[in-house]
Amino acid sequence: MPITKEASIAEVVEQRLGSLKNRTAKVGVIGLGYVGLPLSLLFAEAGFKVTGFDIDERKVNDLEAGRSYIFRISAEEIQGAREQGFRATADFSLLSGMDAIIMCVPTPLTGHREPDLSFIENTARSVAPWLREGQIVVLESTTYPGTTEELLIPILEKENKQGLKVKSAENNTDDGVFYVAFSPEREDPGNTQVARRDIPKVVGGHEPTATELAATLYEGIFKRAVRVSSTRVAEMCKLLENIYRCVNIALVNELKVLSMRMGVDIWEVIDAASTKPFGFHPFYPGPGLGGHCIPIDPFYLSWKAKEYDFNTRFIELAGEVNERMPEFVVENVAKALNHQRKPLNGSKIIMLGMAYKKDIDDLRESPSLTVIELLRAQGAEVVYNDPYFPTVGRGRHYNLNMTCTPLTHLGDYDCVLIMTDHTDYDYKDIVKQSQLVVDSRNATRGIQSEKIFRC
Ligand SMILES: NC(=O)c1ccc[n+]([C@@H]2O[C@H](COP(=O)([O-])OP(=O)(O)OC[C@H]3O[C@@H](n4cnc5c(N)ncnc54)[C@H](O)[C@@H]3O)[C@@H](O)[C@H]2O)c1
Repeated sequence: MPITKEASIAEVVEQRLGSLKNRTAKVGVIGLGYVGLPLSLLFAEAGFKVTGFDIDERKVNDLEAGRSYIFRISAEEIQGAREQGFRATADFSLLSGMDAIIMCVPTPLTGHREPDLSFIENTARSVAPWLREGQIVVLESTTYPGTTEELLIPILEKENKQGLKVKSAENNTDDGVFYVAFSPEREDPGNTQVARRDIPKVVGGHEPTATELAATLYEGIFKRAVRVSSTRVAEMCKLLENIYRCVNIALVNELKVLSMRMGVDIWEVIDAASTKPFGFHPFYPGPGLGGHCIPIDPFYLSWKAKEYDFNTRFIELAGEVNERMPEFVVENVAKALNHQRKPLNGSKIIMLGMAYKKDIDDLRESPSLTVIELLRAQGAEVVYNDPYFPTVGRGRHYNLNMTCTPLTHLGDYDCVLIMTDHTDYDYKDIVKQSQLVVDSRNATRGIQSEKIFRC
């Protein structure tokens, strides 16, 4: 339908993508990983026609065969979504048939701990040739403020076939345009307390129509969309949330180290402080940061800050404290063994938990990987158990080639090291069977035994 010059934003939304409201819009989700796949399923469940795009043919084949490759998503859910019309493909020409395109591709760090934006760049290059007038393109990948405007939009404008321009303050028309917004993903993997649709969705458009189009789209699956004034605000919002976590975790990690020296139980302290009904939010110490977000995202901002001659001191300090935690765990394993007149060198250690946090099948940046390397470097013999990982092969920073060891002969090991507090473990029984338990998560809380060494 042609857009009249005088149309209000609401009318443009209605005319351009009225289908957003009645859920007949075709939604394309690019990047079918931990973020993109669940998002696709939410849209499908809400009645949208969803097509998932990925360059990983194995993922596409699995989904097309009704299989899941993410532990917490069942094959039945995939099959249910397929009955609603969900399809997966590696054919990017199908993007031109979409009304809305959402990009959920990785944003890791390079070997020099700088932002690696190659995934966003490559995706933008795959989208541009198939852009169609009136489409809304939303970036969800976590990144520094300015990425949408400085990287994504220029590629989409330069490389589309039809000479389409983004709608902007300068190009304030709805003719011959596409729309762009940023909306950060806020998922908390493994969190069973908050349903995904109850997490408000922050949306910032390149200009107000884009904000409205993207917000209307997300209101189809989330209870609430929070409109902000720009893509930069939305980008920074996600970083603030993650830096807040990173800094507070570093604070409790540092206080844990001090408390141990003082003979104070930091977990009891946190429990007591948490009874304050205002002004305190509990964060918990651990063996180090993991996952695709907290260990990485803050460095996107500190890198960008340099362009403004600005030093992000909190981020650097928090990084320093958190990155030392795996070494701290290893030092404490050595101390605990020493107590039993055993050296770390030659000791047999079984590590419980590879995942970076409990009850999930994600080991990206997991401190367990670092701890294995550190223990082995000191001559320890290390095996692992994790119900979520039958094997651990090769990743970006490791090549372990290990197989999950059953928990049947715990007494044979000099030390059981708890790295992830999975709910499925029977901690009482683990302590009973073991010679020594080093617990980096306070998973054995409430269990009294001289065999337990908490760190
Ligand atoms: N995992 C989380 O819990 C979480 C939470 C909040 C935000 N995020 C952010 O969301 C983004 C995606 O994270 P994820 O955990 O889903 O990553 P992921 O690695 O699980 O999935 C990314 C997917 O993108 C695909 N991909 C890569 N390049 C592509 C391309 N050019 N075209 C099409 N597909 C491509 C990959 O094959 C993969 O399937 C990241 O920016 C991350 O920081 C993740």
